[in-house]
Formats: sequence, structure tokens, C-alpha cells
Amino acid sequence: MRSVRVTCTINGQPREADDVWPGESLLYVLRERLGLPGAKNACEQGECGSCTVYLDGTPVCACLVAAGQAQGRDVVTVEGFAEGTELHAVQKAFVEAGAVQCGFCTPGLVVAVHDLLERQPAPSDPDIREALAGNLCRCTGYEKIMEAVRLAARS
Ligand code: FES
Ligand code: FES
Repeated sequence: MRSVRVTCTINGQPREADDVWPGESLLYVLRERLGLPGAKNACEQGECGSCTVYLDGTPVCACLVAAGQAQGRDVVTVEGFAEGTELHAVQKAFVEAGAVQCGFCTPGLVVAVHDLLERQPAPSDPDIREALAGNLCRCTGYEKIMEAVRLAARS
């Protein structure tokens, strides 16, 4: 099969990747071809949420999206959240709540929490648990993540 060029918008900038093979995931292209290592590769099977990015405004597991599917579309990764050196409120809340330990789950969680708060600015704890059910964390026991989301919702 032929390799292709993929062009899309990433974090507001036009980007392109050459020689992309049909089997490559969007996650691989982001991390290995475009120098955007924010989205993490933990399971590569759509089960942990550490690779979550926005695709046309919808959170997706980038490991499950073929890179070619991003052609002409709008991608936002965790690198697109901060304004210069100023962290986004969701990122700040994670730091303040102590919800970042190894940090592997954090980029995906930041995207998922951002999406939740866009849809539900004042989520209940069950709302938060449901929204983050696809994002696994092996370090924190989740309570500090819950606190981070409550904090972000208040900010
Ligand atoms: S790396 Fe994509 S869901 Fe785990
Ligand atoms: S902080 Fe380590 S997996 Fe969540």
C-alpha cells in the first residue's frame, strides 16, 4: 500500500506529515512525526484514555484513529491548552490538587475534563466518574483527580 501525506490543523496551526502508512495511528503521527508527545501511548487499544485528543471538537482515543482519518480535520492535543507559559485552568487544577503523579494519564484526563466542563460546567461526582470512566490512572486512586475536576469547575 502507498504512503500518503496527511494535512490537518493541529492546535490551530496547519500541519502536514509525509510518508504516512495506512496502518499508522493518529497517535503515532502526532508523537513520532510531528513532535507532539503530549498524548501518551500506554495501551494502544483504546482502553486507557492516555492518548485522548480532540478531533473536530470530539474527544477520541488517538491510538484508534487511523492517521488518514485526520485528513483535513481539526486536532487539538494537550499541547494546545496552555496560553504561552500560562497553564489552562484544568491543568492548573490538576497540579494544585496533587492529581499528577507519574503523569502518564494526565494529558488524556486534561482533554476529557475540559470536554466534560464544556458540556457540564458544574458536574456532580457521579457525572465526573461517568465522564472519566475511560481514563485509567494507576497511581492516584482517583480521589485527587476528582478533587482536580471540582477545583477546575470552581475556577
Ligand atoms: S493508548 Fe490509546 S487508549 Fe490507551
Ligand atoms: S498519575 Fe500515574 S497513571 Fe495517573
